[in-house]
Amino acid sequence: MDGGWKVRELPTRRLGDLSVSAIGMGAMTLTQVEGFDVARGGRAVHAALDAGVTFFDTADSYGPSEAYGVNELALINALRSYPGALDRVVVATKGGHTRHENASWWIDGSAAHLARAARESASRLGLDSLPLYQLHRPDPKVDYAESMGALRQLVDDGIVQHVGVSNVNPAQLAQSLHVLGGALVSVQNEYSPVARSEAPMIALCERHGLAFLAWGPLGGMRAAKGLGQTSSAFAEIAVERGVSPQRVAIAWALAASPALIPIPGASRVESVLDTVAAVDLELTPDELRRLDGDA
Ligand SMILES: NC(=O)c1ccc[n+]([C@@H]2O[C@H](COP(=O)([O-])OP(=O)(O)OC[C@H]3O[C@@H](n4cnc5c(N)ncnc54)[C@H](OP(=O)(O)O)[C@@H]3O)[C@@H](O)[C@H]2O)c1
Repeated sequence: MDGGWKVRELPTRRLGDLSVSAIGMGAMTLTQVEGFDVARGGRAVHAALDAGVTFFDTADSYGPSEAYGVNELALINALRSYPGALDRVVVATKGGHTRHENASWWIDGSAAHLARAARESASRLGLDSLPLYQLHRPDPKVDYAESMGALRQLVDDGIVQHVGVSNVNPAQLAQSLHVLGGALVSVQNEYSPVARSEAPMIALCERHGLAFLAWGPLGGMRAAKGLGQTSSAFAEIAVERGVSPQRVAIAWALAASPALIPIPGASRVESVLDTVAAVDLELTPDELRRLDGDA
């Protein structure tokens, strides 16, 4: 990095009225493991910026411990140390998960929690308002309408510019659209070669003009490296094309829908460079049929 914005332009996809790189970066991996390496993660973020990535996903609850904001701070510090980055990228965060003793995960979708969590995220990220704030997961103990009303209020208060929902089903999406209208721009659900059940949700997103942010697009942070062992067509086409199965997976996801934006996680420069190169891997109709059949 030489202090300038020397990036290539990646193809873009719509996120409401925003335009972001067709491949984003999931930041969870930067800090989710004990003893995470801040400097290495920072280099991965800079490699993503160099490669043209303009969408980064984090959450207040990501990190190895019960402390909040570890991941948000690691990401924003890496972005701040790359001149001009914050003027060009969209940082998305999430609230609604809580962390407790022994780093256990809980959910709190109450209006009071979301109102506080969004303000704390904005403060940590040093942003006047959050470009994309996502409900991390519906809380079964709280009326979903209450959570949506809280997000609507955050938009009305100017704390949040655009809203996303995550881990939702079609009925919850319909309710989100009803309460949030045009402020809702994205759904973040799991989608990968080993988790394909969200295909109908992708079609729903297309129909409503929403982005589908595919989390865990390589099978999740613990399984991603073994993708070639679990998905044989991905491994075969990878060999035929002389690329990694992970790159094939991201190219396959991009081909699934113009609404889909994969957000692969990476803590190493090599991972970032390999997956971002999927924008140049055009799969043939025959290859796509083989991959679609490899469920
Ligand atoms: N909304 C939700 O509930 C939810 C849940 C889970 C995740 N997410 C979001 O989705 C993002 C991605 O999910 P994820 O991190 O769980 O899973 P993932 O993207 O499927 O896998 C991430 C792992 O893939 C490895 N990797 C990346 N590119 C690679 C390549 N080309 N070759 C080999 N390995 C490669 C990375 O390794 P290295 O670390 O070694 O680079 C990392 O450990 C998260 O960062 C987070 O932002 C959201």
